[in-house]
Amino acid sequence: MKRIGILTGGGDCPGLNAVIRGVCERCFCADVEVFGFYDGWRGVIEQDGQWLTENEMEGLQTMGGTILGSSRTNVMRIDDGPERVKQTMDKLGLEAIVAIGGDDTLGVARSLQKMGMNMVGVPKTIDNDLSGTDYTFGFDTACNNAMAALDNVKFTAMSHRRVIVVELMGRHTGWIAVHAGIAGNAQVIAIPEYPMHIDEICRILSERHRRTNWSVVAVAEAAEIEGIEQDESDIERDAFGNKAMDQRAIGERLARAINARTGIPARHVVLAHLQRGGNPSAYDRVLASRLGVGAANAVLKGNFGTMVSLRGTDIVLLPLEAALQERKCVPRDLYETAQMFMR
Ligand code: F6P
Repeated sequence: MKRIGILTGGGDCPGLNAVIRGVCERCFCADVEVFGFYDGWRGVIEQDGQWLTENEMEGLQTMGGTILGSSRTNVMRIDDGPERVKQTMDKLGLEAIVAIGGDDTLGVARSLQKMGMNMVGVPKTIDNDLSGTDYTFGFDTACNNAMAALDNVKFTAMSHRRVIVVELMGRHTGWIAVHAGIAGNAQVIAIPEYPMHIDEICRILSERHRRTNWSVVAVAEAAEIEGIEQDESDIERDAFGNKAMDQRAIGERLARAINARTGIPARHVVLAHLQRGGNPSAYDRVLASRLGVGAANAVLKGNFGTMVSLRGTDIVLLPLEAALQERKCVPRDLYETAQMFMR
């Protein structure tokens, strides 16, 4: 009987459990056993995990988070990391590992594949900024959660005649802020791809407050606001060198700058993990299930060194490198659409 391993790395993401179920159900049908590693690459390095069973799959696609746990362990930064992965695979008799993760997790998978270990990737991030796939699972749920928050704060902004700034996730890009901002009626949408000047933001808000007396601003956590720069050299970094974005406090700084320059009362809300938690949307449950089955099919056919990807409405197989190329940024035409509503 064939055996494979599976892991989830990086930030948790609604739909991870649906991918796990998709991989396992497809494998079980083909008499393939699946070992679930705990906490991403940490479980592989430390041989920590369990054989997954049919019972554990029941309704899994409905649940947020990941039953396997996650971490940002970087195998390539551990001295004998790759050898330990090899030892674990040999000991458990695993033909391949399905790695579900973002560019960091998939970057490790690609390095291990180059060293002769069989890997199949499933691209994952709520940020939707991975190249090689049109949309990532988890993004739709995050946008729905962010939209609900924008809908909610609007009433407080109206009641108190305030500006409320909502800081949304997106380590490098503004996908969530743009989608949720359009859907949730934000009057200013600030994202890293197209930096705004604080004077421009204040102009939009001041003009608006002559007509009405409330506003909601969506700001991506990675946004640069020209005119309110600050030193970020002290911000902590993880094992992959990623900044702790919450420490930038862009939402708070922007709300303070708006208040100082316009005199309009301003508050900020950091949505943080509320947008990443919770159960996946129907769209994410289906997309993640399809990606999981697709990844298992790749393993069954021996298509290693690949990743599953959404192209249009199809699930296709691409080389693992596809997820690691240039970051997928918000295109100008989408941002221009968002700008149409900024007033
Ligand atoms: O990459 C997904 C993401 O949610 C980013 O949007 C965010 O900057 C980061 O992870 C937060 O990571 P953590 O949960 O480790 O603070």
